[in-house]
Amino acid sequence: MGLLTGKRGIIMGIANERSIATSVARLMHKEGAQLGFSYLPDVGDRNRNEQRVRDVTKDLNPSLIESCNVAEDSDIQRFFAIVQEQMGEIDFVIHSIAFAPTDDLKCPTYQASRAGFLTAMDISVYSFLAVARYAAPIMKQDGTGSMTAMTYFGGEKVMPGYNLMGVAKAALDTSVRYAAYELGEKKIRVNAISAGPVKTLAASAVGDFKKMLTLYETSSPLRSNITAEDVGAAAAFLSSDYGKMTTGEILHVDGGYHIMGVSGGAEVK
Ligand SMILES: NC(=O)c1ccc[n+]([C@@H]2O[C@H](COP(=O)([O-])OP(=O)(O)OC[C@H]3O[C@@H](n4cnc5c(N)ncnc54)[C@H](O)[C@@H]3O)[C@@H](O)[C@H]2O)c1
Repeated sequence: MGLLTGKRGIIMGIANERSIATSVARLMHKEGAQLGFSYLPDVGDRNRNEQRVRDVTKDLNPSLIESCNVAEDSDIQRFFAIVQEQMGEIDFVIHSIAFAPTDDLKCPTYQASRAGFLTAMDISVYSFLAVARYAAPIMKQDGTGSMTAMTYFGGEKVMPGYNLMGVAKAALDTSVRYAAYELGEKKIRVNAISAGPVKTLAASAVGDFKKMLTLYETSSPLRSNITAEDVGAAAAFLSSDYGKMTTGEILHVDGGYHIMGVSGGAEVK
């Protein structure tokens, strides 16, 4: 019997094989969860996003694969109505979604455009709260309900290159805490996983990725980089009954990098 046997949930944010959400899905499936997936709607008549999610999840026996643009409240509402119809009550939701326009991400935060700032906050922060709003009514309210977002340390401390996304992650972390308090009375838990760098589509837009990997390898207490499977393991724990008294938590899966006050192995003797 797996950690998640008997549990049903939704994973939002698979773009391709490399997405963190893909590894989360594989691990949760291995632990016995029944899964439904959303994908970013395709533009025009191409169905690339849908096809990628179908390909990536074909061995996971998906209960549902449906588009959901988290920039639209009505689409999130439509999506969770379909989830309820096809899957009934669910135990968990994984939100693994972020976006900021490249130009606004590459420039100093104080040079970011107003429109770029609002887009980053809309897709990377507000969408989590909107998902919580429409998912909560169809979640089990017996203490097994769990929502998990993906965040990064650049929202706690300055990580040069993370820029506008750091501002968004700070707001996401705080949103997780408020939602955890508010949904606590419904016995729904709300947490975030703060992952170390993993090479994905979204990560390629942020800073110098090779430097990031070297930094974590040399400066984290465990002196190594994480894998997306490590994030999957944390997501499985948080969504399982073993996580039943954990809420409002930012769970770092970063080899311990976040505890360090110096980088590069420098020691003060
Ligand atoms: N890769 C890393 O190093 C890292 C580290 C810490 C946290 N994270 C976070 O993990 C999460 C997943 O990112 P990833 O690295 O797997 O990259 P990814 O590019 O594979 O995933 C990002 C997802 O967001 C989706 N998305 C963007 N706009 C959307 C919209 N309007 N509606 C619906 N979906 C939309 C994309 O389709 C994609 O599936 C993000 O929140 C990211 O900030 C990533």
